[in-house]
This record gives sequence, C-alpha cells and structure tokens, in this order.
Amino acid sequence: MRLILLGAPGAGKGTQAARIASRYGIAHISTGDMLRAEIRSETPLGLMAKSIIDRGELVSDDVIIGMVKNRIVMPDCARGFLFDGFPRTIEQAEALEDICNIDYAIDIEVPFDRLIERISSRRMCPKCGSAYHVSAHPEGLCPCGGKLYQRDDDNEETVKNRLEVYGEKTAPLIEFYRTRGRLLTVNGDASVDTVEAEIARKLEG
Ligand code: AP5
Repeated sequence: MRLILLGAPGAGKGTQAARIASRYGIAHISTGDMLRAEIRSETPLGLMAKSIIDRGELVSDDVIIGMVKNRIVMPDCARGFLFDGFPRTIEQAEALEDICNIDYAIDIEVPFDRLIERISSRRMCPKCGSAYHVSAHPEGLCPCGGKLYQRDDDNEETVKNRLEVYGEKTAPLIEFYRTRGRLLTVNGDASVDTVEAEIARKLEG
C-alpha cells in the first residue's frame, strides 16, 4: 500500500498518518518531521531548512526529492508507506511518478477558520511526537512524560504564509491526483476517530 495524505497545514495529516500507518503496518514518512530532525541535529541541511520553515516557505524540490528517495528504500518501507506532507508541489508529484506508483492520495478537507484555531492551539511532544490541542494537557506534560512545546512555525504570521503557500503550490495537487483517478476526499472537520474511520472505509471500499 502506497498512500499520500494531502491537506492544508493543520488539516490533521500527522494525526491521521500515525493511525493509518499503524492500522495497515506501513511506514509513516513525514517530510516535515524529517526536516525538524535535521534541524535538531544541526546538520547543514537542518541549518539551511530552519530559516525557510520559520518563514513558512517550502524547502527546495531537489532537497526534498533526494530525502524521499533515500527514505523509501529503507527496510520499514517494504510493506508500503504513507507520505505526510509530500508531495507539496507539482514538481515533487511528477518526480514521485518517476520513482514509484501511488495507490491513493487522500485529501483531508477542513474549513479555513478551523485550521488557524487548530494550529495556534497545537502543542507537540518532543519525546513521542504526538500533537495535542493545548486544552488537552494544560499542565504542559504529555502522557509519555515529554514536556509539550509550540512549534516555531506555528506563530500567526508564519501560519498565514503557510496557508498562502499551500493554496498556491500544494492545492493544485488535488486536481493532479483527481485527473489520474487516484483521489479520495474525506471530511476532516469531524472527530479524529470519525476521520480515521472514513479514510479506512474509502480505502477498503
Ligand atoms: P509539515 O510538518 O508537513 O507541516 P504542515 O503541512 O504545515 O502540517 P502541520 O504539521 O502543521 O499539520 P497537520 O496537517 O499534520 O495537522 P496535525 O495532525 O498536526 O511541514 C512544515 C514545514 O516543513 C513546511 O512549512 C515546509 O517549510 C517544510 N516542508 C515539509 N515538507 C515539505 C515538502 N514536501 N516540500 C517542501 N517543504 C516541505 O493537527 C493539527 C492540530 O489539530 C493538532 O493539535 C491535532 O491534535 C489537531 N487535530 C487533528 N485532527 C483533528 C480533528 N479531527 N479534530 C480536532 N482537532 C484535530
């Protein structure tokens, strides 16, 4: 199974990707998480990517495609994989077509005002990678013991730019996959369990 999760920033791609990958025993590949790991390790790629991510712009297609090519040959991808946050441009989608076939691209649809609320209220766990609404753990501690933090690119100005960049560069991928007969659309403005169930129903239907 080879899947793509499409959706604007805050649509719930990371949340659903973790569930869907574990449900089907496939690898969860988040290019955002890979870039944040490079930033934490202060690698040359991480140092370059940080200022781009903090502005809400996209890292160059060449860098991302190289990262993905190296990732999908790893042993945990043998049973399949699910991309979260990739592809993000038509150029990335075309490059992906040269690398492998995709079964479905799942677009998670969420109204604009909900996206802003979700992102500005999101807190992340550095230990297990979970994302929560700030009200879920007001004391700032993840159940795994990690101290919750807010992502540097979750501030108001960067979020606005991320949403603009999404509209301009990533939203056209919906049509790209629709014309190839690969698009599934789910309503992301529902509970996490409901969204997961709708994705599974459409994949298995
Ligand atoms: P990335 O990490 O991919 O961020 P993003 O696409 O902006 O998406 P988010 O992580 O903000 O949101 P999400 O859809 O995963 O939502 P989540 O599940 O967390 O990319 C970051 C940056 O890296 C980019 O801006 C770019 O610079 C760079 N980058 C990455 N990939 C790239 C690429 N391919 N090319 C170029 N550059 C790249 O949910 C959000 C919140 O809502 C959470 O608090 C969650 O708990 C909550 N929530 C989730 N689902 C629900 C629900 N159903 N109901 C209520 N709340 C919910």
